[in-house]
Amino acid sequence: MNSWQYSESIESEKIVNIEKKYGNFIDGKFVTPKSKQYIDTISPSTEKILSSISIGNQQDVDYAVVSAKEGLKKWSKTAPSERAKYLFKLARLIQERSREFAVLESLDGGKPIKESRDFDLPQVAQNFFYYAGWADKLDIAWGNEKYKPYGVVGQIIPWNFPLLMLSWKVAPALATGNTVVLKPAETTPLTALLFAELCEEVGLPDGVFNLVTGDGSTGSHLVNHKDIKKIAFTGSTGVGKYIQKSLAGRDVGLTLELGGKAANIVYSDAALDEAVEGVVNGIFFNQGHVCCAGSRLLVQEDIEEKFIKKLEKRMQTLNVGNPLDKNTDVGAINSKDQLDKIEKLVNEGIADGGDLYQIECELPKNGFWFKPSLFTSVQANYKIATEEIFGPVLTTLTFRTPEEAVEIANNTEYGLSAGIWTEKGSKILWTADRLEAGVIWANTFNKFDPASPFGGYKESGFGREGGRHGLLSYLKVSS
Ligand code: NAI
Ligand code: MG
Repeated sequence: MNSWQYSESIESEKIVNIEKKYGNFIDGKFVTPKSKQYIDTISPSTEKILSSISIGNQQDVDYAVVSAKEGLKKWSKTAPSERAKYLFKLARLIQERSREFAVLESLDGGKPIKESRDFDLPQVAQNFFYYAGWADKLDIAWGNEKYKPYGVVGQIIPWNFPLLMLSWKVAPALATGNTVVLKPAETTPLTALLFAELCEEVGLPDGVFNLVTGDGSTGSHLVNHKDIKKIAFTGSTGVGKYIQKSLAGRDVGLTLELGGKAANIVYSDAALDEAVEGVVNGIFFNQGHVCCAGSRLLVQEDIEEKFIKKLEKRMQTLNVGNPLDKNTDVGAINSKDQLDKIEKLVNEGIADGGDLYQIECELPKNGFWFKPSLFTSVQANYKIATEEIFGPVLTTLTFRTPEEAVEIANNTEYGLSAGIWTEKGSKILWTADRLEAGVIWANTFNKFDPASPFGGYKESGFGREGGRHGLLSYLKVSS
């Protein structure tokens, strides 16, 4: 689908049109924020200011929720087959304008263009197509069981996969008959703002999709709004816990997709070159800003030395740099705050006694960068082995037996994903059965499909996005 390529970054920047300043998208149009407060969104690879976005306050959120309540009156009377048509139209427009979206995503967030172009955007369109298909088949999905939409749902999304997280949330919410108030992350609002333009273009009824930009305070207003009937959140475990506490005792639906510290388990009988590829993809994809990243390498002790040598050699071939260059493998760290967090944890890992390997490469002068890194000689209690770093940093632990691999893999507060590398099918099944993780990949990593549910256990959150289960996140049992 996406055969286009970039000759130079300047060319690709030309295809996007970024306004100097954006308001919120409420009641079918862009409106001036009542807060009159703005914040810059920059390109993390150059620190250049791209645009100014509003920080929505209580009044802005109120306005959006009132609009979503009005929108609900129309949307609930819109035939499911009509709802599907809007979603199909959105899916097609996203495909048509995917070059623009991909460049915008890479500019605003720092991810390599080959990822936004070949991973994020195709999936965004697929998610809209997939849920468009469900809109008029909900009776088939649930048979005699009666479900109804929540009503007005608040959706708060993170900065690592901005448009993809929007699609995971907006498409099923609208397909099931809810209306939406969405708040994108403050460092990556631009693709959501372009999506709002598409909603206008397809003539989505006013108030069905509303967008209020802003920071944590804006998100908090949304969470605590009395007319919100459901909150869907993807982000840090800390904010997830705050949201859950805020909603305690209220009849508000909640799904949380939080952090992870996934084990990528390499048995000594694995195809080692393939496993190296999978481990590299598992942690360096999107600079490691991935909730399901394979951030803990669990390698069987007898192959550790050989495997680490291969891994370091492969890591050295990674191209770090300009996100808009089609040859870039590892782009910029999303923000100064995130870079500080990564540096702090890595320094703690060194102080604890971990051996750090970093690739040799030159980093651009401006922007936020971190070299692909690998820790060995790590003890299970080091912070780098237990806390989510959310950066291009892999932590190695070793195991002797499959039982020990499972024990180490499960020894974490998180339970989002895991990877298994072995040539033996029975070992895959044995291991997968015992891992506490919502998604488990075998001899591959980071594979997604709109029909397949995604979500966590333990402190990685609850609820599922994607697939038929993703519909249930936006429906409640009808009285
Ligand atoms: P965050 O959880 O603060 O941000 C995610 C979203 O929540 C943003 O839209 C933000 O504006 C919003 N938010 C922040 N405070 C809020 C509040 N009190 N009420 C409602 N909404 C609020 O994540 P942050 O601080 O940007 O990143 C910190 C760490 O979180 C990362 O280092 C990483 O470990 C983890 N993280 C995990 C993600 C995931 O995909 N599971 C995504 C982003 C961050
Ligand atoms: Mg930005």
